[in-house]
Amino acid sequence: MHLGVIGGGQLGRMLAEAGRDIGVRTTFLEAAPNPSAGGLGEVIVAPYDDEAALDRLAEECDAVTYEFENVPVEAVRYLAGKVPIHPGPGALEQAQDRLVEKRFFRSRGIDTAGFEPVDDVAQLRAAIDKLGLPAILKTRRMGYDGKGQLYLADPEQAEGAFATLGGVPCILEQVVAFDRELSILAVRDRSGNKRTWPLVENRHAGGILHWSEVPAPGVTTTLQQEADSIADRLLEAQQYVGVLAVELFQVGDRLLANEMAPRVHNSGHWSIEGALTSQFDNHVRAVLGLPLGSTEVPVPTACANLLGNVPDLSELLAIDGARVHLYGKAPRPGRKLGHVTVQGATPAQLRERLEAVLALTASGA
Ligand SMILES: Nc1ncnc2c1ncn2[C@@H]1O[C@H](COP(=O)(O)OP(=O)(O)O)[C@@H](O)[C@H]1O
Ligand SMILES: [Mg+2]
Repeated sequence: MHLGVIGGGQLGRMLAEAGRDIGVRTTFLEAAPNPSAGGLGEVIVAPYDDEAALDRLAEECDAVTYEFENVPVEAVRYLAGKVPIHPGPGALEQAQDRLVEKRFFRSRGIDTAGFEPVDDVAQLRAAIDKLGLPAILKTRRMGYDGKGQLYLADPEQAEGAFATLGGVPCILEQVVAFDRELSILAVRDRSGNKRTWPLVENRHAGGILHWSEVPAPGVTTTLQQEADSIADRLLEAQQYVGVLAVELFQVGDRLLANEMAPRVHNSGHWSIEGALTSQFDNHVRAVLGLPLGSTEVPVPTACANLLGNVPDLSELLAIDGARVHLYGKAPRPGRKLGHVTVQGATPAQLRERLEAVLALTASGA
């Protein structure tokens, strides 16, 4: 079988690795030359909305997916009539706009932080009056890894903050005093079968995911069920196919949805070693119409991002059980260059191994 992937970054690379194991060939459409996924399949270097390039994907591939959410929706719509493309354009469109996304969550009975649309400074002042401070001003579109957002503590900052973000349409969100951040990864196949992985706990540094641990410690059956139900409502609303990630804030025993990603997600990288079937395996299977595999996590697992620089490989590999994934990308401050997965027979052993990884990676975070 032949899979098309729009985007050629590390997520595309890991999707292709999962496909390769079951004899699936991958072709990437990537705007920039020499992408991370380059060694794993043919790369069509062209803009993401290039019709000739999209036609080639449609002709050559059995199904197409994408590995980042800023793929032009028109490109996905264009493909939709020609080849199975998953997730579909509807889910992509909702995930690209924070305002549409949060309204969608609310429409499905899912809690979020308080929010208000902001199109100009007057609306921002009104939103501050309504929601109170502190609050976070975020651009509706194109933000990632904490980019495109500013923390507001004082009404005086309103005008400057709106200008700093470029005067583009924004959303103002109440700051949630969360106990911790979690994510739920879920997958739905073409026949409507669904699975979720155990809740993941995530720690961010400067808006970028630093490390994840799964199962998230201390998760009750009720909390997992609530997260599963959130994922289920979103999957069903969209007749979604593929992996969906939902970032959550836990406040006491409540879960608030922060954002969703219509793709495999950084907080699921641990699943390559940590789950019986990884997020990449199940995404490839779902998109190609193959049966899903078990999302069981046999032993506690953690995963740390390598941000900005790669520590000495010998030191990393000397950590018992550490599995290192390097994406072949040039170092740049804060850039995701790879990740390290560790497992432990007990939570204490896992903690020890994770601490050892974090001690080596701290400098780049
Ligand atoms: N409303 C909020 N209250 C508290 N913290 C927030 C809020 N929104 C975002 N954050 C923090 O900023 C991080 C990045 O914000 P997010 O909305 O997930 O944007 P991005 O697309 O950059 O990941 C979150 O993981 C969380 O740590
Ligand atoms: Mg996020």
